[in-house]
Amino acid sequence: MSGSSITIENVKQFIVGYDSKVPLITGEEKRYINFDNAASTPVLEPVLETINRFMPWYSSIHRGTGFKSQLSTNIYNKTREIVLNYCRANDDAHIVIYGKNTTEMINKLARRLLIEDDQVVFSTWMEHHSNDLPWRYNQRVVHIEVDEQGRLDLNDLRNKLDEFKGKVRLVAVTGASNVTGYINPVHEIAKMAHEHGAEILVDAAQLAPHRALDLKPQDDPGHIDYLALSAHKIYAPFGQGALVANKDVFTRGNPDQVGGGVVDVVDKDYVFWSEPPEREEAGTPNLIGALALAKALQVVDEIGMDKIAEHEMKLTSYALKKLKKLPGMTIYGSDDENDVENRLGVITFNLEGFYHAYLASILNYEYAVGVRNGCFCAHPYLKKLLKITPEENEAYEKRVLNHDRSQIPGAIRMSFGMYNNEEEVDIFVEALQRIQRGEIKGRYVQNIQTGEYHPENLESDYDKYFRL
Ligand SMILES: Cc1ncc(COP(=O)(O)O)c(C=O)c1O
Repeated sequence: MSGSSITIENVKQFIVGYDSKVPLITGEEKRYINFDNAASTPVLEPVLETINRFMPWYSSIHRGTGFKSQLSTNIYNKTREIVLNYCRANDDAHIVIYGKNTTEMINKLARRLLIEDDQVVFSTWMEHHSNDLPWRYNQRVVHIEVDEQGRLDLNDLRNKLDEFKGKVRLVAVTGASNVTGYINPVHEIAKMAHEHGAEILVDAAQLAPHRALDLKPQDDPGHIDYLALSAHKIYAPFGQGALVANKDVFTRGNPDQVGGGVVDVVDKDYVFWSEPPEREEAGTPNLIGALALAKALQVVDEIGMDKIAEHEMKLTSYALKKLKKLPGMTIYGSDDENDVENRLGVITFNLEGFYHAYLASILNYEYAVGVRNGCFCAHPYLKKLLKITPEENEAYEKRVLNHDRSQIPGAIRMSFGMYNNEEEVDIFVEALQRIQRGEIKGRYVQNIQTGEYHPENLESDYDKYFRL
């Protein structure tokens, strides 16, 4: 499809593998519907085309003297400018540091943020583990509460900022939840944090593919100091993550990983580190990943983040309206189809009478729909939404620690990308209705250790579809 211009209306034609058919339990094949975009998105065709076009020029970057090395270095540096532009970070305060994903980027910040003994970091109870555990294990953390529906409790944030006045180094908050899809008011939170002398990190792993980002100038009280994102959630799955960061933090202290590429001078007993961002990218960087990320950002900018948001809001509203009508349906978080502006197309639910892992497996093997089930790397948040009692929690933990995952609490998550459409939602809802009517062809057995269900005696022939 390269050559024609890409719009929100035709974007599905530019999604690699959009028409792929996958096998069903019956032996037939059906077009795969991907409703697991919150985990990873497929690749955009222009991203793949750009990589292929670049490959003849690919070479070592940094300090190579050959033309291809210089061209590659030039492109690598240019990708940083594109990321900065995408985040509307147009001042000198911000730099782009690359790594492999959001998790790595937040871990890096958690290790490099030098904090005083009496300071704390705020995280929240709606975070993905990637914006909670790195803080727990590197800093002293205080968690901000969520309400019964799973919304961040801004009053609790305000109270805790007052309680720890002057002692809060950073507020680490997700831009949008990977469970309920709620979008947090990050600029309002930033303003509150700055008023109390703290900085803010926005985990934009979920937000970046669906809403325009705007770090705002440093003199705006609502500006964002740090932002992390993953390219594999923005149609560029080539192992790249980015941390857009206030440069100052990374000019102090030692890099968290050392080796080649991070030094200006090394002698037998001393080292002078390079300036950031190089100082934070030990070893040979992932040039192809950076190129893919930059191209994907250009493409979504070309389509228009406003158009993407509008399409996804409409689709979310459509899906909520239909899903709500199913008997026995519980949607976690808001199920209001008229209130979709401040949420993403991430819908997490349970259907009465169907264990989440069982239902996810039927959807795959009988309807070719890919969803996700479980706790979505946000255990404290999900347990709160599911209203798990302390007794249930204790029993479940005991079983898991005994390698029995057969009854882990959880839910099903469907999550949209910009290329999904109402027809796919219709197929999905009809599948759920059929399953509720008992139209289940397979007999499914559970693997106690993993908790997953598979059709009895079915061996998937992966080699038929792809082999090395
Ligand atoms: C909100 C949020 N933060 C962080 C992450 C971690 O992203 P990655 O696995 O790319 O490091 C995810 C992944 O799903 C996420 O949804």
